[in-house]
Amino acid sequence: MIYLNPSLLACNFFELEKNLDILKEKGVKYLHLDVMDGNFVPNISFGPGVIKQIRKKYPEFILDCHLMVDKPENIIDSILDAGADIITFHPEATFHPHRIIQTVHSHGKKCGLALNPSTSLECCKYILDDLDIILIMSVNPGFGGQSFIESQHLKLREARNMLDNYNSDAILEVDGGVKLKNVEEVINSGADLIVSGSDVFNENIESQIDMYHEIFKKFN
Ligand code: DX5
Ligand code: ZN
Repeated sequence: MIYLNPSLLACNFFELEKNLDILKEKGVKYLHLDVMDGNFVPNISFGPGVIKQIRKKYPEFILDCHLMVDKPENIIDSILDAGADIITFHPEATFHPHRIIQTVHSHGKKCGLALNPSTSLECCKYILDDLDIILIMSVNPGFGGQSFIESQHLKLREARNMLDNYNSDAILEVDGGVKLKNVEEVINSGADLIVSGSDVFNENIESQIDMYHEIFKKFN
């Protein structure tokens, strides 16, 4: 199944509730929450406090927390306490990726690795059994509204092959520069969880979601 995973980063925060209500009405299941520390990436977004409030008001969303932070081990507990369902983090940000995965699993939550455009898939290979998600970054992390880096189609295809070869049912997530105009190509490359920020949270949010869902029908 292909799912839309709107990235809150692009939302007008003065209209947060209105926009989240629209997602809910449209049957969107996932919500992508980008946590940035101004260190691992040159930007700061929001953290556990905001996630907790969203969790409380919208228990139905699967909260997919993408941690773009150094030493994610320092913040994992508070992100889990806030109500995350999925945590993805960047392997470059910690000495012990596998230990973090174990910690997240010990709380009964899902865990994934997020790979920067230049990061090799190899870092997933030996821990594939423990991964619920591989997130392919199709932009350099830190900002919304960037252009899709075309070389990441190759990584998506290789990731899809790797998952198939190892009989893994991990989700293949793609994040950055995904829009209505390229989403079919991204799905054809193997992605099944589609993050989109600036192309969803604009003045036509309802019709944008409808158009994404219409495209997904061809695959689901
Ligand atoms: C970038 C974030 C993305 C971002 C995507 O660092 O991880 O989730 O919000 O935004 P768009 O879809 O606008 O590229
Ligand atoms: Zn993200």
